[in-house]
Amino acid sequence: MNQALEIIRLLGLAKAVRTKTRFDRALPHVRGYAVCGCLWALLETGALDRLLDADSLPLDALAQGLDRRVLESILGYLDGLGLVRLQDGRVRALARLRRLMAEPRGFFELTYAYAPVFARLPDMLAGRAAYGRGVARLGKYVGRGSGQLCRTLPYPVMADMLRRRGARLVLDLGCGDLAFLFFVCDALPQVRAVGIDVDPPTVEYAREVLAASPHKGRIEVRPADMFDLAALARERPDIDAITAVDTYHEYLAQGEEKVVGLLRQLRAEFPRTLLYVGEFCKQPHEKLRSRPTAFLEHHLYHDLTNQVIADAAAWRRMFAAAGLAVLEEKVFDIVGHGYFVLR
Ligand SMILES: C[S@@+](CC[C@H](N)C(=O)[O-])C[C@H]1O[C@@H](n2cnc3c(N)ncnc32)[C@H](O)[C@@H]1O
Repeated sequence: MNQALEIIRLLGLAKAVRTKTRFDRALPHVRGYAVCGCLWALLETGALDRLLDADSLPLDALAQGLDRRVLESILGYLDGLGLVRLQDGRVRALARLRRLMAEPRGFFELTYAYAPVFARLPDMLAGRAAYGRGVARLGKYVGRGSGQLCRTLPYPVMADMLRRRGARLVLDLGCGDLAFLFFVCDALPQVRAVGIDVDPPTVEYAREVLAASPHKGRIEVRPADMFDLAALARERPDIDAITAVDTYHEYLAQGEEKVVGLLRQLRAEFPRTLLYVGEFCKQPHEKLRSRPTAFLEHHLYHDLTNQVIADAAAWRRMFAAAGLAVLEEKVFDIVGHGYFVLR
């Protein structure tokens, strides 16, 4: 109290209050950066999951293989914020950290995927570096982060569409780590699936997780390019649903015509199959300005890495140009995602 009075005497009440208010407003921005840095270090080294998996751990055990002094700095900071408790040589994750690492964990992982881009942002801004030329995101965390985030709404919406339309054999384009097909198999016991991905390390990882999954008898994974599926269409004429979650937009940088051509080709190769599309739908900047949801960060990450996001009207335009009719549509502005069933 005396200290507060001394500050007021020195600065005057109005200036003291104004200065404190301004620092309070700056703190969440600075703290977000520091907290993310600390959590990402724990995530990358596996210490975060060891902490979350145990009720409490001896600090000595958590420090195995890590720099103990750095670990103690991180834990001391997170203890001050009520995220962990570090006491009497033991450490435990508090409820606040456990809640952050439940559904929102994907936010942290997806943002970590772009950390190398932010680390080079001064160079990129000054024109000394460019994305794709010595600057890359962390692909593994793009997959893990988006898989976790999609479990909250995109996968349930798509699974509901498949259920209502009685899908039995699903072909998933750009299946990634199979998070979507696992979700579908959990939700729909009648479904079998083929997942394809063009990226060999992704297919290898998908095969690894599939081997350990209870759905290994119902899902098949193949390395394949969705632009070249004529042989698969002949081999599996019983495919009655083609799904793609956040896959088509990867080609929008080459122009809408590229995606239109692909959709047209899929329609010709699989003439009786319904197409289920889950895609980002860009929101008008005015809307984000009045309600700055997490989609603002999403736009920034995509913009900085030259990924194009289309709005819902552009997707409808591409579907129409490919000769596809929209049987069903759900666009959720709150997550900036849209879902379409096409014939
Ligand atoms: C943004 S990720 C989405 C992954 C997954 N669908 C999900 O929901 O988490 C896009 C995926 O599409 C794959 N992909 C990109 N181009 C492809 C192509 N031509 N054929 C098949 N897969 C492709 C990428 O390798 C990547 O795994």
